[in-house]
Amino acid sequence: MVIGVHAERELTPAAKRVDQAARGALKKALGDLPARAGSTLLLRGLPGVAAQRVLLVSLGARKDFAENAFRDSLRGAASALKELESKDAALFLVDIKVGSRPASWNLRQAVLGLREALYRFDLLKTQKKTSGPALERVTLPLASSAALQSALAEAEATADGADLARTLGNLPSNICTPSYLAEEAKKLARQFKLQIEVLERRDLERLGMGAFLAVANASHQPPKLIVLRYQGKPRAPLLALVGKGITFDTGGISLKPAGEMDEMKFDMSGAGSVLGTLRALAGMRAPLNVVGIIPACENMPGGQATRPGDVVTTLSGQTVEILNTDAEGRLILCDALTYAARFEPETVIDVATLTGACVIALGHVATGLFANDQKLADEIREAADDAWDRVWQMPLWEDYQEQLRSNFADFANIGGRPGGSITAACFLARFTREMRWAHLDIAGTAWKSGREKGSTARPVPLLVRFALRHAGKK
Ligand code: BES
Ligand code: MN
Ligand code: ZN
Repeated sequence: MVIGVHAERELTPAAKRVDQAARGALKKALGDLPARAGSTLLLRGLPGVAAQRVLLVSLGARKDFAENAFRDSLRGAASALKELESKDAALFLVDIKVGSRPASWNLRQAVLGLREALYRFDLLKTQKKTSGPALERVTLPLASSAALQSALAEAEATADGADLARTLGNLPSNICTPSYLAEEAKKLARQFKLQIEVLERRDLERLGMGAFLAVANASHQPPKLIVLRYQGKPRAPLLALVGKGITFDTGGISLKPAGEMDEMKFDMSGAGSVLGTLRALAGMRAPLNVVGIIPACENMPGGQATRPGDVVTTLSGQTVEILNTDAEGRLILCDALTYAARFEPETVIDVATLTGACVIALGHVATGLFANDQKLADEIREAADDAWDRVWQMPLWEDYQEQLRSNFADFANIGGRPGGSITAACFLARFTREMRWAHLDIAGTAWKSGREKGSTARPVPLLVRFALRHAGKK
C-alpha cells in the first residue's frame, strides 16, 4: 500500500483510515519521513493492516503541491516499488487533487510515470538486473468511469510508444542503423496494419534529395526515407510528423570533439519519437490520420564526405551552401519536409535534436517550439502543458533570415552563433512556407546525461496528446 503524506503531516483520508486501523502507528512513523516530495519510508507489519508493507511517500509541502511535486512523488514511489521488487501495489497517491487537473490527468501521469520508472534497458548486459518479478498489478483508487477508462487506454498505449522511442534512443549506433529503424517501422506496420514505404538511396537520387544525400554520402550504412501511415478515420485531415533520424552524428568533416560524442547516438530521437507516437496512436485506435516521415542516415567523415563550402540542390530546387557539415539535421529535414507536401497534410510538425544552442537557451526542461502559425503554436503549447511534457515558444522572425545569407548559393546551412536554434528553424521555414508547420527542437529534452544517461522518450506524450486534442478529444 502506497500512501502520500504532505510535509505538514496532515493525513489524507486514506492515510487516516490506515492510521486508525493501526492505532496511531502510522502517525508515529511520520517523523522519519523526509519532507522532500518523493522521499519514501517503508513500514512493515503494521498492526491491524492487511497490507504486508505500507510505503509512505512524501508529497512535499501542501502549498507547493502542484504538477512537479505530484510527478516527483510518483517517481519516488515507483523507484521504491522497483527496489522492493513488489508484485502488487495500491497507489493512494493518485486520488490527490493537483490544482484544477481532472482525475484523468492524474491517471495518465501515474501510468506514464510508473512505466518510465519501471523501464529497464539491460538488453546488452550479460548480467540482467532483474532477478525478482516486476510489478504485476497496480491498483489505483479511482471511481471507474468512461472518461477514466479512455484515459487509461490512452496512457497505456502512450507508455508502449514511449518505451519504443526510449529503446530506439538507447540502442547504440552499431545496432540502431538506418536499416534497423526501417525494419522497426516495418514491424510496426505488420503489427498495427499500417501502410509503409521505405525509399532507398536510388529513390532519393531519382527524386533529387541533394541535401539529404549530401549528409549520407560518406557512410557505409545506406540512407532510408521511411514513410509510415496510420489511417484511423477516413477523409479526416492528415497530420504529418517528420523526425530527424541521424543514427550517429560525428559532425562529418566539421568533426565534433571527442567529449560526450557517444551521446550523438541519440541524434535519431526525433525519429524514435515519431515511431513511438505512431505506435501509441495505432495501439489505441485513435480516430485520426497520421503520416510519419523519417529521413534516416549517419553523418560520417570520409573520402566521399561532403566538404564545407560544397553547394547542393535540395528537393525544393533551392540551393544550399553547406558551410558546416555538422549542421546536418536541417539538411535531411528540409528534403523530408518538401516530400511531406505530397501527402497534402493539414498540419506538419517536425521533431529534431537540432541544435546545441537550444540546450543553452532552454536547458533540459522545455523543448523549443517554433511555428509559422500562431494558432498551431498555441495548440501545441496547450497540449504540452496537458501532457506535462512542456515546450517554450521561440521567435521565427524574418529578421533572423539574413544570417543565412550566402555568396555562392541561395542560402547557407548555418547562421553563426547568435540565436543558433532560431536560425536553424529559419532554415527549415524556407521549406515550409506553403504549410501549416511547427518545429520542435528536442536537443535538450530527448535524453539525460551523466549517471542517469538515457533516452527520455520526449516528446511522445506531447505528440500523442496533441494529435488526440487536435482530432477533438480533450
Ligand atoms: N545533433 C546536433 C545538435 C546537438 C548537439 C544536440 C548537442 C544535442 C547536443 C546537431 O546536428 C549539430 O551538430 N548542430 C550544430 C549546429 C551548428 C554547427 C550550427 C550545433 O549545435 O553545434
Ligand atoms: Mn550535427
Ligand atoms: Zn545532429
